[in-house]
Amino acid sequence: MNTNSPNNKLSSLPESAHLLVVGGGGREHALCWKLAQSPNVSKIYCAPGNGGTGSESKTENLNIPVNDFAALREFAEKNNIDLTVIGPDNPLAEGIVDYFNEKSLPVFGPTKLAAKLEWSKAFAKEFMSATNIPTPKFVVCSNFEEGMKAVKSHQWARVVKADGLALGKGVFVCNTEDQCKHALEQIFTDKIFGAAGEVALIEEKIRGEELSLLLFCDGESVMAMPASQDHKRRFDNDQGPNTGGMGVYSPVPLFEKFKEAIDEQVIKPLQKAIAEKKIDFQGILYAGLMIGTTESEDETTDDNSKARILVLEFNARFGDPETQALMPLLDADLYQILDACQKRQLKNISISWKKSASCCVIAAASSYPESSSKNEIIVIKNLPSDVFVFHAGTKLVDGKLLTNGGRVLAVTAVAQTMEQARAKAYAALEQISFKDISFRSDIGRRAAEQCLST
Ligand code: GLY
Repeated sequence: MNTNSPNNKLSSLPESAHLLVVGGGGREHALCWKLAQSPNVSKIYCAPGNGGTGSESKTENLNIPVNDFAALREFAEKNNIDLTVIGPDNPLAEGIVDYFNEKSLPVFGPTKLAAKLEWSKAFAKEFMSATNIPTPKFVVCSNFEEGMKAVKSHQWARVVKADGLALGKGVFVCNTEDQCKHALEQIFTDKIFGAAGEVALIEEKIRGEELSLLLFCDGESVMAMPASQDHKRRFDNDQGPNTGGMGVYSPVPLFEKFKEAIDEQVIKPLQKAIAEKKIDFQGILYAGLMIGTTESEDETTDDNSKARILVLEFNARFGDPETQALMPLLDADLYQILDACQKRQLKNISISWKKSASCCVIAAASSYPESSSKNEIIVIKNLPSDVFVFHAGTKLVDGKLLTNGGRVLAVTAVAQTMEQARAKAYAALEQISFKDISFRSDIGRRAAEQCLST
């Protein structure tokens, strides 16, 4: 069903809305691209944006950094922005939504208090315990000695996490007591994460597959998007250092297998907690799920028969690169959905998704994540249809498209099957070049094989 259906009981949208998207990565390009398709949107400003958002239809970049709340709010106020959409985690953790709310400016995203589900892992764990959402066992500690006591007392305690936002680097998955000790020293003695490491968690180590489950939330109810699976390690076969995510695909065959259990154990408890105002969450709630087993259970579980569903963590925003894989599958008006969330009217709309497969491959410099590509010319030749090149680390200088650090491009292809989507994404990458371009060759491979074998 289309969200423009007359069945939708919504207050009307402005006919010619002006939007502001805050952020400058691949996620924000995908959001601008999708928002621009709304017939009700006539202009999108992206602050600061990138080379892709700068060339997108209806979209203009604004030279305002994401942490300049005063300039962003002043722009929204002076330009009668109908909705501001916040992309990245840091401004949410620092209270940008509260800052816009002070002036009653329409903004999509959680308040600082609600975003605590992302910026404090201890808070998220307490929330999960209180709402019966399954999560690995944990101990919260506020100094090195407490941490070591937990590690020595519990054989299962082998994952050490900094409590706060740490640019995706705050998680240490350890095998031995010594490795845990080293992680705790980095957090509490060396203070490598600063204030984000004032508290740490020691968690149960789980083996299995991770899934990303993103939900639209309006403070009253939730609506889940199709599940996706990110590939966080830098190299093929999940080898090498962790990154922001090297590629993602959706839908996920493993999710389909556990769908009812995930609904019962994760989505319904979240729905209940939000409806009962245990947390007033408006925005995107992103549950990082693990379908897996503890090490002691591991020997007997090749077929997932003992696998449990666990929520490892929450994010309080759209995932990156999950958004780049999901937006091309969304068969609805994103502006209408975000506006409904902001007005607490989500239950009045229906959201449909294409029954297609989406595969998104990240292109970065071969040296990424240690260092990244800057100021190299990007050439994009002819692309097959249903391929979308979302820009992350790019900029336009005198009409030339140049690399600008980090993950450079998110190349997404949509097709009937995952095998076809993969083939199309990799064919598109053959048409794209910049110095030292590099990407994983196995994004979505496991899913494509699973689909072929069923
Ligand atoms: N894809 C991981 C994240 O957005 O945090």
